[in-house]
Amino acid sequence: MSKTIHEPVLLREVLDGLNPQPNQNHIDCTYGGGGHSKAILERIKPNGKVIGIDLDPAVKKLNHDKNLVLVNDNYKNLKKIINELGITKINGVLLDLGLSSDQLGSGDRGFSFQGEGFLDLRFDPTSDRPTAAEILKNYSEKELLEIFKNYGEEPLAWPITKQIIAKRQSGEFIETADMLVQLISEQYRKKYRHKSKHNPATKVFQALRIAVNDEYGNIEQVLPDAINSLAVGGRLAVISFHSGEDRIVKHFFKNAAVKDFPKIKIITKRPIVASDEEVLKNPRSRSAKLRVVEKI
Ligand SMILES: C[S@@+](CC[C@H](N)C(=O)[O-])C[C@H]1O[C@@H](n2cnc3c(N)ncnc32)[C@H](O)[C@@H]1O
Repeated sequence: MSKTIHEPVLLREVLDGLNPQPNQNHIDCTYGGGGHSKAILERIKPNGKVIGIDLDPAVKKLNHDKNLVLVNDNYKNLKKIINELGITKINGVLLDLGLSSDQLGSGDRGFSFQGEGFLDLRFDPTSDRPTAAEILKNYSEKELLEIFKNYGEEPLAWPITKQIIAKRQSGEFIETADMLVQLISEQYRKKYRHKSKHNPATKVFQALRIAVNDEYGNIEQVLPDAINSLAVGGRLAVISFHSGEDRIVKHFFKNAAVKDFPKIKIITKRPIVASDEEVLKNPRSRSAKLRVVEKI
């Protein structure tokens, strides 16, 4: 991506939480359009570094800032990435979970509901993880049902799964975003007979994306490594976008806060949410929750 349309969420609140200072090193585990990184970079000059990580090979450095190092990798490999770069003192780590508006707008990887894009949904299309289309084609009824229920809290998980299996049995496979949207919309029309305000496909797409990318596994792996990597006084900030993600982060912070080592303090007793003004300007921020902890 040489240009970005992504608006960073809770930017001021993230800066307040991480409090970057001149000559510090910070890690942005989800670089995306670089919005948060750019603001952190302005604060850590002249000699600090921002390590930007993103799994999506389409993500590119937006300028030639010498203080920014961009790494194309999975943030679950944080420990290895830090070791390879030889950075010893880290003062802040940021995770801004989920997908960016650039990916949503790209149309050809299945992220957007509007497109005829192949249902890939991998953040890294070169990885050997199964695509969403392969999951819909090969996973058992039970596995599909669990994905839609557990990762999407989809109320129509059962009829949607049944319909996918029925189509499969007649030799029809759901391979594009619009085919899946149509199948889900039909189930919603049958059940509710009216159009809902939000696109009824949101939850199923979210569920498939989580499964395709093993998003919960990645979060569970990175959180302890992020705390371990921080210098004393350093902070970890996590923005989540739905209850499943936030639950993992909240429980991890709670459990980590009662441990002796490494010791952390919870800075945000309750998650910080976007102001009405931000939600109006950037509707994506509506479901964002920011939690911050400090290593003590
Ligand atoms: C919400 S966007 C981040 C936007 C960014 N904070 C900004 O202001 O532009 C999330 C980004 O995280 C990336 N991502 C998702 N899972 C990842 C993972 N396991 N490792 C590295 N990057 C990941 C996605 O490719 C996406 O670009």
